[in-house]
Amino acid sequence: MSSQEGKYRKMVTKNVSSKIVDKIKQLQAHSLPTFPSFPEIPSYEECMRRSKEFWENFTFFSKNNYEALDRMWSRGKDFLGTKYAIMGGAMSWLSERHLVSAISNGGGFGIIASGGMKPDILRGEIQAVRMMTSKPFGVNIITMHRQLEEMLDVCIEEKVTHIVFAGGVPSSKDIKKVKDAGIKVICFAPTVALGKKLIRAGSDALLIEGSESGGHIGPVSTLILAQEIIPHITEVPIFVAGGVGTAGALVSFLEMGASGCQIGSRFVCATECIAHPNFKKAFIRAHSRDAMPMIQIDPRFPVISVRALSNEGTKHFIEAQKEAISRFERGEIDAKAVQDEIEHFWVGALKRAAIDGDVENGSVMAGQSVGLIDREMPAAEIIENLVEASVTEISKRRKLLEG
Ligand SMILES: Cc1cc2nc3c(=O)[nH]c(=O)nc-3n(C[C@H](O)[C@H](O)[C@H](O)COP(=O)(O)O)c2cc1C
Repeated sequence: MSSQEGKYRKMVTKNVSSKIVDKIKQLQAHSLPTFPSFPEIPSYEECMRRSKEFWENFTFFSKNNYEALDRMWSRGKDFLGTKYAIMGGAMSWLSERHLVSAISNGGGFGIIASGGMKPDILRGEIQAVRMMTSKPFGVNIITMHRQLEEMLDVCIEEKVTHIVFAGGVPSSKDIKKVKDAGIKVICFAPTVALGKKLIRAGSDALLIEGSESGGHIGPVSTLILAQEIIPHITEVPIFVAGGVGTAGALVSFLEMGASGCQIGSRFVCATECIAHPNFKKAFIRAHSRDAMPMIQIDPRFPVISVRALSNEGTKHFIEAQKEAISRFERGEIDAKAVQDEIEHFWVGALKRAAIDGDVENGSVMAGQSVGLIDREMPAAEIIENLVEASVTEISKRRKLLEG
């Protein structure tokens, strides 16, 4: 405890104690005959002693609970090189220099979303983030990017420390290529078997992302994935994404054995996020049930489902699917091109809403945790609030356990 903090505590203790004694004396003097008699007034010294004990316990427990949180996610923190094991999930168009550096400066791990970028744009973003923070950050690489090789080359040349492979299973060749350059690799694991395979291929950490998430989603919820995967994979740290909106969820996943979490939707409403004000407003207004997965209309063309706020854009997606499929049926394009067009649709639709602000016709990709967002605030505050609340959560759970 610093001497300033000590002085402050003494002052508060003294004031509070004497005020309590005065108040009790005052009440006793005016108490009606029928009023139950007060217990004996503790002496001023006794008040001081009890207050001192309270502060000591308070300090002991809060310090202990901070240390507990630190221990629970130490593997994740060490892997990321951060103060907190909170990853800012890459979000196409939005996870650029401003948001990424703000998250990293706030103690989390910012990740550049390179899905909609070309190699030279990615290079510029990496360099810009470096100008805005000295803290660690990563790059999210979409495996089906048309210039995948060049994107990886940029990461290697720019000495990026962590790559998150997304949008499909990366090849062993690509994993090896970046690992040989000293880059740490994080892959999405939708099952235990695939997770083990990715670890054998060299993945240094795994991300499990449930269907509560925003953007492209798998079919299984975060809670089920966590139960299916975490107990069976101990070789590498596991980060949990999708629906982590409060400390309760975060601490629960850490207790289950996760090493940290990844949060997307909450950071859309970070002050530093460049999302259009309409996009942020839509997030603040939305309820969790408004974030719905899009449907696929033809089983011959399995589309990766996308979770977004329901709007006119949902109808546009159905039309875009129909249009691509009828072109396939007329023999104008092949099956791969259909998938490609559908993917392309999303990139444009998200930009229309997130950057241009057309939240009616564009795609407002959002996770179900959108219902927990009530205001815009700086990324560092989002992170600090979550950490503070996690410490309180741990203390609550300890009290429950210890009685
Ligand atoms: C608007 C938006 C865009 C996203 N874009 C990407 C992306 O480009 N690459 C990716 O791997 N995940 C993407 N995601 C998923 C996030 O990185 C993150 O894993 C997910 O949002 C976590 O769930 P949460 O929103 O409940 O926190 C996106 C999510 C949102 C909301």
